[in-house]
Amino acid sequence: MPGSDADLLRRAQRLDELLAPSLSEDWPNLPVAGGEGAYLYGADGRRYLDFVSGMAACNLGHRHPKVVAAAKAQLDRLIHGPIGVVVYDTLLRASEELARLTPGDLDMFFWGNSGTEAVEGALKLARYVTRRPAFVAFVGGFHGRSFGSASVTTSNVKYRRHYEPLLPAVYHVPFPYCFRCPYRRGGACCDDPFASLDRLFAHVVPPDEVAAILVEPILGEGGYVVPPSDFLPRLRAICDREGILLIFDEIQTGFGRTGEMFAAQTFGVTPDVLVLSKAIASGFPLSAVAASPRLMRQWSAGTHGTTFGGNPVACAAAVATFEALREERVLDNVRARATEAMDRLTALAARSPLIGEVRGRGLMIGVEFVDPDEGGAPNGAAVRRVLEGCLERGLLLYPAGPAGSVLRVIPPLVVSAGQLDEGLRIIEEVVHSLTP
Ligand SMILES: Cc1ncc(COP(=O)(O)O)c(C=O)c1O
Repeated sequence: MPGSDADLLRRAQRLDELLAPSLSEDWPNLPVAGGEGAYLYGADGRRYLDFVSGMAACNLGHRHPKVVAAAKAQLDRLIHGPIGVVVYDTLLRASEELARLTPGDLDMFFWGNSGTEAVEGALKLARYVTRRPAFVAFVGGFHGRSFGSASVTTSNVKYRRHYEPLLPAVYHVPFPYCFRCPYRRGGACCDDPFASLDRLFAHVVPPDEVAAILVEPILGEGGYVVPPSDFLPRLRAICDREGILLIFDEIQTGFGRTGEMFAAQTFGVTPDVLVLSKAIASGFPLSAVAASPRLMRQWSAGTHGTTFGGNPVACAAAVATFEALREERVLDNVRARATEAMDRLTALAARSPLIGEVRGRGLMIGVEFVDPDEGGAPNGAAVRRVLEGCLERGLLLYPAGPAGSVLRVIPPLVVSAGQLDEGLRIIEEVVHSLTP
């Protein structure tokens, strides 16, 4: 792996002269010379354990050999289509293989490049097919940054400020965030998304004008919030009753992250539309909207498309990703490592008043930090200190939640027991050093 790179370190100092601040002002802008498996190799010559996994895009770790080989082989055959003008092997194989993984009959695909593009596609599909104008989404959801996806996004007001007017006919109801129940009613809080939906349908928008309800099965950017187990089944029932399409945004939860291939399977609910990206191609830009043939066939020819979507190289990487997930029994590793991580982090929470809650499914774990002196208020400052302390010790982590008060723990799904232990020991050490 590459060693230190003084030139890269020096040039990285100019980042704010080269990139728009909207893109570059983030944590920690670590100059890296390369990556392999669970590790990134810093331009400073140090090795970093990567528990961000390319923001959940590199579920197989960095540069999985099978993915690299498939992409290289495809580079020698064909780099670009586009779909519609030509048909190529990796497009067909990616579609055939993805159909084997998706739940129910969600076996037809619209291929795109990015998460936001897939969300836009799902919203357009829903409007086109239902001929209804409105959408319902959840407070705290994150779905992307283009105008349609930003319209359904409320994980943080920064994604909306100065961008209004966004898409009309978008309505938001609370997501069941039991740890910080907006109604402060303890155990009863989880009913309120449904009470809000009832009120919405009775007073604001008739359900027969709602095209789709869009939801992340577990809030990602919004704070790694896991809903009660009956939340998604009840949403499914409402959608069935009202003829509304249920869209799961599994851009972050997909491809093994929650211990099953999709969170739809983790929660036992099949949506009408599944939105996928991130880990689908192990870091190559690719996304997909999956729906049943019955639904997809109503989306008339030529009414939506893209130049680069379903790129041949990205599709080759996707096929290799699906094969590796299966052949290497990655889901077994997720389940084993998830138990170890949850046990250790829960034990840490019991010892530290700075941790209010540890929650998650599979290797999608959030650790919410609180301020014990401020009645348990969100403690983004503590998370910042944890991030910095961990990075100093060679562990890369990233925050979530509107106040940055949730530490997201998203190691690659192929993380070994030893690597997980190494990362958790660093987190424990840093949290202990901060605990009053
Ligand atoms: C759940 C979810 N939806 C949508 C997106 C947007 O994806 P992209 O950044 O590729 O546009 C993200 C990205 O973080 C996400 O986590």
